[in-house]
Amino acid sequence: MKAVILVGGEGTRLRPITLMMPKPVTPVANVPMMFYMLEWLKKYKIEEAILVACYLPEKLRKVLGNSYKGIKLTYIYEETPLGTGGAIKRAQKHMKGTTLVLNGDVITDFNIAKMLQFHNKNCAQATIGLFSVKNYSAFGVVELDNTGSVKRFLEKPSKEELNVEEANINAGIYLLEPEVLERMKYGKKYSIEREVFPGLVGRSFYGFVEKNIYWLDMGTPERFRKFTTDILEKNYSICLAVNGKYLKAAGAKVFKPSLIGGGTRLEKNSSIGALSVIGKNCRIGENSVVENCIVFDGVKIGKNCFLKNVIICSGAKIAEETKITAESILGPNTVITAYSRIGG
Ligand code: GDD
Ligand code: MG
Repeated sequence: MKAVILVGGEGTRLRPITLMMPKPVTPVANVPMMFYMLEWLKKYKIEEAILVACYLPEKLRKVLGNSYKGIKLTYIYEETPLGTGGAIKRAQKHMKGTTLVLNGDVITDFNIAKMLQFHNKNCAQATIGLFSVKNYSAFGVVELDNTGSVKRFLEKPSKEELNVEEANINAGIYLLEPEVLERMKYGKKYSIEREVFPGLVGRSFYGFVEKNIYWLDMGTPERFRKFTTDILEKNYSICLAVNGKYLKAAGAKVFKPSLIGGGTRLEKNSSIGALSVIGKNCRIGENSVVENCIVFDGVKIGKNCFLKNVIICSGAKIAEETKITAESILGPNTVITAYSRIGG
């Protein structure tokens, strides 16, 4: 089976992390986020992934390349964002039989084989993978009848609108038959959630609920942090992250769980606290303490700094004696001058 992966979003809620790189290549525990998704797809013998890209497509291609452990990667570009529906329509020529369609920011171990069985048993033209959550307002909510047929699809309803404790949400995982695409025009902007799914209700449209699985939409800094912590604490079954070859000067300490990329230098008596990730080719200055931080590649931190709960994007330079204690994100190439104080 082939997979179509939507990777065209600008990742606005993840800014400034996504200012210079698209969400799918954002490093999570020093590994591009998309590799976790491809690793999951490999388990289900997906032979080709068609990535429909729009935002910074060349950066995406440079990092991901043309294949991942035997999965062929094909790229389709949009000049302007066509929305989730318009992007899927663009991949139509690759969608011969049943196709797996995915939101490109979903991290999960959802059982695709079971979902496919369910889809085939029902002779469905579309099946949505569902996951139950309490905080459903940021997602598409799907109501089913007792046969699993979709009764209603509501994109991002308010708590007041639905008034339930918990709801089945669209997990961003679809099995689609080619006829679903016949309902859309090529080159037009569509939201599959708002303009296509509601119209499929009553037409062999099913929802498949998975329980006790890992599922996360990496769309906000909080969820990016959560995913990183889950990887470090081994709460997610796919583990790709490993320490690189780094240099540790006398007295430097590294507390676990944490990760440090290759070519990084920890100067004398510096300290990396638990749940921190340090990227490749970074420098952590003498006596500096980094606690619960995510530091991307090529970041230089001077001596006697204290940094806690900070996400630091690539290329940032933080001069000596700086203290940052407020939960914060420093964008790519940020320069912080010596003795700066952020957060008291
Ligand atoms: N190619 C392309 N073009 N891709 C797009 C476009 C576009 O115009 N717009 C969004 N995407 C991609 C994003 O890159 C992302 O991978 C995916 O489509 C979903 O977009 P998000 O912006 O992340 O949507 P969301 O998280 O608010 O909501 C969606 O995902 C939820 C589950 O993760 C919806 O599908 C919800 O119904 C769903 O519950
Ligand atoms: Mg999302």
